[in-house]
Amino acid sequence: MNSVGIDAVAIHAGKLKLDLVETFAPAMDEAPEKYTKGLGLHASSFPDVDEDIVTMGANAAHRLMDRKGLEPDDIGRIDVATESAFDNSKPVSTYIAGCLEQVYEGDFHHANKGERKFACISGTQSLDDAYNWIRAGRHRGRAALVIATDTALYARGDAGEATQGAGAVAMLVTEDPNLVELSPEQGFGSADETDFLKPNQQFPSVDGKRSVQVYLARMREALEDYESVAEPTHPDQFRYIPFHTPFPGMVRKAAMLGYRHMIRDSSIEDDLASEIGRQPRIEEFDDEEQFMDAVRDYMDDLKETEAYRGWYEGAIEPTLDIARHVGNWYTGSVHVARASALKRALEDDIDMTNEKLLVGSYGSGAQAEIHTETVREGWTEEIGALDIDDQLAARYDISYEEYEQVHDVHNHDKETDFEAFTTPESEFVLSGRGPMDERV
Ligand code: CAA
Repeated sequence: MNSVGIDAVAIHAGKLKLDLVETFAPAMDEAPEKYTKGLGLHASSFPDVDEDIVTMGANAAHRLMDRKGLEPDDIGRIDVATESAFDNSKPVSTYIAGCLEQVYEGDFHHANKGERKFACISGTQSLDDAYNWIRAGRHRGRAALVIATDTALYARGDAGEATQGAGAVAMLVTEDPNLVELSPEQGFGSADETDFLKPNQQFPSVDGKRSVQVYLARMREALEDYESVAEPTHPDQFRYIPFHTPFPGMVRKAAMLGYRHMIRDSSIEDDLASEIGRQPRIEEFDDEEQFMDAVRDYMDDLKETEAYRGWYEGAIEPTLDIARHVGNWYTGSVHVARASALKRALEDDIDMTNEKLLVGSYGSGAQAEIHTETVREGWTEEIGALDIDDQLAARYDISYEEYEQVHDVHNHDKETDFEAFTTPESEFVLSGRGPMDERV
């Protein structure tokens, strides 16, 4: 069997921009630095009145199929990952297939369609499903279309409001892929958690501070589990490390945790020993609290070292370029991080062929997953075709009053009557106001 992985990717960003510095911070009476420096965000991509998870997913998928010259007959399965679904029975993939059938001559009657749910990690789980389907030889030469689409909106006044976002990532999974090959080895960290829930409600109930701790705990377990089936990880092995990015400040914490773990017992730790000492070991302490204090002190020192800063600038920072301007896309977020890093590599003329990525996915509820990817020769062509910069530049910049209106439109509990801010150009939009309306 040839290698299996992501052959191509297309992104659709919500068509409105909520500027956190100019618009949101003054309205919240907060210093803009809380968002830009603390959370690491400058803006979010917000869905226009006539956009939803279906139109965004269909637009990303159409862009992908169009660019790759694909017809419905070339696609054997369509998996949608989302945590913003509006239908508990019929999967979002059927709605998206319905949209695509309006523009292609063929149809998707032959294709296996589904919907994956496990908060943000379900985008990566859908990639796994596609990978397994191809590796099992059930694909009959066809490709899988994986679409991660979400409107990551929070109730007004919720601490998560600053991290909102909306967008879709469509990925084509094939044998002998152009973009990245997926490793068969995976590591998991999974536990029943209740810090982030959407039980039949539109906006999540979140214990934000706890959610950060749960993310870090599950990610550490996943890294250890990955090492138990693959090999010990080392920072120099990976050119980039894309993490699930609810906001870049979260990744800053995850990166520190990952780095500390990866340098343990390595020559990097030896080199740093004279500068900041060795990492505390639990067996050296009488109680866990003292140990945790020592770990915190070590991390404070580690953060300031040239070794850590250089690694962070090279391996992590480029994964955040897009997220800073679009916010959280839930299921699509880690896939945006991968695209962001490879886009930076292309801009900086870095040869990525055969380079490794360590990919850290996460979903509340909670589960983290770690796997590696190898960049393929065709990556420049695939990443060069992304039009995300143009999309972001074309967004309509909403005022705070317009933000209040459009947030109400997406809050299905409220009756509203507002027109879209943008004019559609050869794309799918909602023809009415509700999720069950037609998309044209
Ligand atoms: N200048 C510089 N930095 C500032 C600042 C200023 N003027 N004011 C505040 N900050 C810093 C704070 O020190 C803090 O940084 P550290 O965490 O490094 O200490 C950062 O800005 C954020 O400030 P607060 O902690 O005060 O912010 P908050 O409490 O209002 O909100 C949050 C933070 C609770 C995480 C909130 O954004 C939230 O609830 N988000 C939604 C949940 C979420 O995204 N959780 C992430 C893990 S779960 C997950 O990943 C799944 C998912 O997609 C949701």
